[in-house]
Amino acid sequence: MKISKRKIGLAVAGLVAVSLGGAAIAQDAAANITARQKDMRDVQTNQLAANDGAGKGDMARAKDASIKLNLAFRDAATRFTAGSNSVAGKTTRAKAEIWSDPAGFKAKIDHAIDLTDKLVTAASGTDPIAAQLAVGEVNALCADCHGVYRGGG
Ligand code: HEC
Repeated sequence: MKISKRKIGLAVAGLVAVSLGGAAIAQDAAANITARQKDMRDVQTNQLAANDGAGKGDMARAKDASIKLNLAFRDAATRFTAGSNSVAGKTTRAKAEIWSDPAGFKAKIDHAIDLTDKLVTAASGTDPIAAQLAVGEVNALCADCHGVYRGGG
C-alpha cells in the first residue's frame, strides 16, 4: 500500500490538533478551578456582609451584598466543568462526588441560587427581619454542601 506524504501530513496535523485540544481543555479546567475558588471566597465575604447589613438594619448594605452573593453562586455553578476535578499543579477540594453525582450537586447549587434570589428580594425591601430570616437560610447552605462535596484541607 502506498501512503502519500499528504496523507501522513494530514494524520500528523490531526494528532497535533487533538493534543492541542487536550491542552486547551486542561487550561480551561485550571481556570475554572481558580474562578470557582474565587467565587467561593466572594460567597463568604458577601454572606458575612449580608448578615451584618441585615443585623444592623442597613438595608443598602444587605442588598448590595446579597446581589454579589447570588452572582458568585451563579458563576460557581458554571465552573465545575468536565476535567476540572483534577488538574496537574492545581489544588482543589472539590470532591469526586461532584462528577459522580452531578444531579445531586446541581440540586444543591440550584438551591443556593434559589435561596439567594429570595434573599435579594427580601434585602431589597424595607423589613430587616425578613432579610435576617432569608440570610439565616443561606447560612445553613454552606455546611450542607461542603459536608458532601468539599474535601478536607
Ligand atoms: C453547592 C455546594 C456549595 C455551597 C452551597 C457552598 N459551597 Fe463553598 N465550596 C464548595 C466546593 C465544592 C468548594 C471547593 C472548591 C475547589 O476547591 O475547587 C468550596 C470552597 C469554599 C471555600 C474555599 C475557597 C478557596 O479559597 O479555595 C470557601 C471560603 C467557601 N467554599 C465558602 C462557602 C460559604 C461561606 C458558603 C455558604 C454561604 C458556601 N461556601 C456554600 C461548594 C459549596
